[in-house]
Amino acid sequence: MRHVCRQLCDETAELCDGRPGRCHRRLDGGRVTSPGMTRARAADLVDSERGTISREIFVSADIHAQELETLFTRAWLFVGHESQVANPGDFFTSRMGGESVILCRDKAGQVRVFLNSCRHRGMKVCRYDQGNTTLFTCPYHNWAYGLDGRLMGVPQYKSLYEDVLVRDDWPLIPVARLAVYKGTVWATWDADAPDFETYMGDALAHLDQALDCRDGRPGGSEVIGVHKWLFPANWKFAAENFLGDTYHNPSHRSVDLIGIGPSAAAGVKGRRDDELAKAAHVWIAFAQGHGIHSAIAPEVNTYTEAFKDNPAIEEYFRGCFDARKARLGERARLLPFVGTIFPNASYHGRQPRGICVWHPHGPTETEAWRFFLVDADAPPEVKDFLRRYYMRYSGPAGMTEQDDMENWNYATAASAGAIARRHPFNYQQSMRAAQLDPDVRGVRVPGLVSLQNTEHMALAFYRRWATYLDGADWEMLLGRRDPNFAPPLGVTR
Ligand code: FES
Ligand code: FE
Repeated sequence: MRHVCRQLCDETAELCDGRPGRCHRRLDGGRVTSPGMTRARAADLVDSERGTISREIFVSADIHAQELETLFTRAWLFVGHESQVANPGDFFTSRMGGESVILCRDKAGQVRVFLNSCRHRGMKVCRYDQGNTTLFTCPYHNWAYGLDGRLMGVPQYKSLYEDVLVRDDWPLIPVARLAVYKGTVWATWDADAPDFETYMGDALAHLDQALDCRDGRPGGSEVIGVHKWLFPANWKFAAENFLGDTYHNPSHRSVDLIGIGPSAAAGVKGRRDDELAKAAHVWIAFAQGHGIHSAIAPEVNTYTEAFKDNPAIEEYFRGCFDARKARLGERARLLPFVGTIFPNASYHGRQPRGICVWHPHGPTETEAWRFFLVDADAPPEVKDFLRRYYMRYSGPAGMTEQDDMENWNYATAASAGAIARRHPFNYQQSMRAAQLDPDVRGVRVPGLVSLQNTEHMALAFYRRWATYLDGADWEMLLGRRDPNFAPPLGVTR
């Protein structure tokens, strides 16, 4: 006899008697199990055909533990920016998944990333947010490590360890792969991971829009500050929001009524100036799990005033626009808005401009870090103008970010209950409206592209999320066998 399951699966289930607490597809050790099945797949929690996703992935401690084990140990993660460690000996204490890492520059000028944990008893060897040093000396028993991670000093070595402890065998644990891309530093614990550019795929051209100088020169950004704060929600709420959830605009109604943007004093309402008003918006899912919202400017690509509170700042950005157009030609028509680089690094491309990282602390707690970017060679008054705008917009006290966090916090709390967890979230918005590699206003846009508000990026993100949790190989993790990204028969990419 078949019953409608009112538990996790919310579907007709042969073995389910339909009563609360009797669901046979329960979570066990981070895995969905059913009678006679010792291990099921995370993919069972993501139904991208139907457009639903189980709430368990946002509240379950078991799933959170599995993410730390199988996802954050393999994916490329954002660690920091070269400008934060400009000189030999500079360090910035960062995070990868749930673990503390040290980003530093060694004496030879090489950027390094190590696990921030002593090889003796695991004490954090660096307890400061940032600074400059010659050694990382563990506070517990004083083992001391060089900037290249080597174990340099062991107290009472001769009397206690000689002929037993080989110091070269006990360095700080380095990441398996490290990439410095246009100033940003990324790392992975998986030695078999593909290189960073392969991992990024076609999403790289969109990340570039956040990292490149405003006048189109490649790279050239610097970090002018980092906001850090905790919020009581699962990290994926934030990552998903930045995939391109433009649909949540109504929740910013209050800030849009008053105006906090770079032309607020000139009478422009809203969070930002509408630089993209004349552009065609594109929402793009990538096979690797990244998702972005960018825009294509019209063929006649003219400057939109967007920094009117200060004529000198306006003039500066108008000059940048003209220089970028002259430098990049047609490519200057690609404009950034937001995106998430799988799994937990997001960006705002223009107003404000920066990288946000969503560090998991627990199933329902996240530490947010916002790295604010400016062109390193911008005039001081431009940097100061942007810094003040960034603070109005972002962070725990930023007027826009407060709205977002309120959504994520309440959504988490209201999804943790026994009843709420039985009912999946709906991701059906525009789920069949995306096209592969279309031309938009004469520009070829690689990826699975929608021209309207959509949640197809989220479905692609969670499909990839599930492949990591299910322990797939890199062919799968890069989405190379995801049929949603396969071109129609007879078409080659
Ligand atoms: Fe670091 Fe003992 S824990 S020296
Ligand atoms: Fe928002």
